[in-house]
Amino acid sequence: MAAASSIALSSTTLVLLLLFSFSEAREFLVGGNANAWNIPNSQSNSESLNQWAQSSRFRVSDTLVWKYDSTKDSVLRVTKEGYASCNTSDPIEEYKDGNTKVKLDKSGPHYFISGAAGHCEKGQKVIVVVLSARHRFMGISPAPAPVEFEGGPAVAPISGATSLEGSLMVALGVLVGFVLM
Ligand SMILES: *[C@@H]1O[C@H](CO)[C@@H](O)[C@H](O)[C@H]1NC(C)=O
Repeated sequence: MAAASSIALSSTTLVLLLLFSFSEAREFLVGGNANAWNIPNSQSNSESLNQWAQSSRFRVSDTLVWKYDSTKDSVLRVTKEGYASCNTSDPIEEYKDGNTKVKLDKSGPHYFISGAAGHCEKGQKVIVVVLSARHRFMGISPAPAPVEFEGGPAVAPISGATSLEGSLMVALGVLVGFVLM
């Protein structure tokens, strides 16, 4: 009995450690490489930055990183309307240091456009959607409905990682139940 509960306890510790590693803040290089904050190089791939954004699952307290030539470009955080109309005149935040880091402080969509003249119109813009923790832990149910918003593509949460976290929660629950028995 003592041996069984100590095994259960160390398994519980392991699961807790796993959960902590999942909630660790991470850094994402926008576009996936150091040359990505640029005008997409072909018309057919004008949504390449948003394709990158949709392939990643962002969480509150993750950090976005932009690398670019600070003499030629910048990063503007804008409203949904500013994103849709590529309006660079009144950004929420403006960054032009060439190595910009922005912490994602809340869930929901975050809109970024290039501050260089004409760049946003040619596709240098990105929407990063941060799912809430509540959303992320509902992964036990079938894939959640895509999050829709005006002026941007539908974003379907990737269910693989969600169900992994869901499974960990279930495993934790089972272990806690076992220890309490
Ligand atoms: C851009 O935004 C500013 C400030 O919100 C606004 O005054 C201006 O009319 C906008 N321009 C366009 C073209 O939408």
